[in-house]
Amino acid sequence: MIIASPRDFRRAAQQRLPRFLFDYVDGGALDEVTLKANETDLSKILLRQRVLHAMDKVDLSTTLLGQDLALPITLGPVGLSGMLARRGEVQAAQAAAKARIPYTLSTVSVCPLAEIAAASSQPIWFQLYVLKDRGFMADALARAAALGVTTLVFTVDMPTPGSRYRDPHSGMSGPWAGTRRLVQAMLHPRWALDVGLLGRPHDLGNISVYRGQSTGLADYIGWLGANFDPSIGWQDLDWIRQTWQGQILIKGILDPDDARDAVSFGADGIVVSNHGGRQLDGTLSTAAAMPGIVEAVGKSIPVLADSGIRSGVDVLRFLALGADAVMLGRAYAYALAAGGEAGVSRLLALFEAEMRTNMTLMGVKKLADLGPHCLVQPSQGK
Ligand code: GLV
Repeated sequence: MIIASPRDFRRAAQQRLPRFLFDYVDGGALDEVTLKANETDLSKILLRQRVLHAMDKVDLSTTLLGQDLALPITLGPVGLSGMLARRGEVQAAQAAAKARIPYTLSTVSVCPLAEIAAASSQPIWFQLYVLKDRGFMADALARAAALGVTTLVFTVDMPTPGSRYRDPHSGMSGPWAGTRRLVQAMLHPRWALDVGLLGRPHDLGNISVYRGQSTGLADYIGWLGANFDPSIGWQDLDWIRQTWQGQILIKGILDPDDARDAVSFGADGIVVSNHGGRQLDGTLSTAAAMPGIVEAVGKSIPVLADSGIRSGVDVLRFLALGADAVMLGRAYAYALAAGGEAGVSRLLALFEAEMRTNMTLMGVKKLADLGPHCLVQPSQGK
């Protein structure tokens, strides 16, 4: 299959993966209205074309949370990505390190933190949910500190898991789920051999390490469902501030008031996100939420954005809206499924090429020069 654009990876992933895994990555909450709005609203953000700006050089490097990045891109936490490719989290982390951008390991990864830390040539970021089992959280924070994690990505938009109507249809849950997954795996022999057999153990690595016993996929939904903590408030985050010496990024902010609260809490940065349309269906797209949040936060802390980013052009759109960097989820998950580490590297190279070309066509030489003045309204063309 020919991969010419970042979007081609989605179809390649669909071919490679058993249906339950493709739909887990591809799907969103309820009617998937927000999932779609993330992409459509973003595509309506129009970039301003400027000519004859002596564009001999374009610089895509930036500094984020004290770290030098080759691109204003980070890889976000994607649960179960070790099921998408053999030891998938290791492969994604290695692609990120080669591209000199951060990689965030999900709490619900297949590979445990120690496996990633040993394989990555750069410090990694670690994502945590607010979970009822505070023993798990304290243990995970201690492990993260010992393994050199610099940045904690704290996901706050999941006090309760969003319902994903695709799951029972796909075999992720529902009747005969285990048997249906097995049949799907047999229908995808490349995946079955590479990941199903050679990618074992299929475990929730971070959780097994803590519980001292294997936590298989069947336990995943049960453990997670039982452990989300809807009673969480900002005051609960104070104990994390006390236990965690490193940086804290608050992920899942969609409202200017919450953004202000995150600044008051002392967050080192926020990620504007609706969880890729996987949580509150019927809410604002991230692109629509950006201007209000950027205004509320000002320049006080870095603002990252995710949800709906499928191309290098989308990265420029978010940067022009005021983001300091973006976080990729599905975009790299598809590439990981399609081609492992090489797939993710190729995806990042395609993003970079799109960004370079379009910045040249926009007359913008460096990221700091991107801003609302680089956007145009349809009416301005008349
Ligand atoms: C987990 O965070 C998910 O969105 O499935």
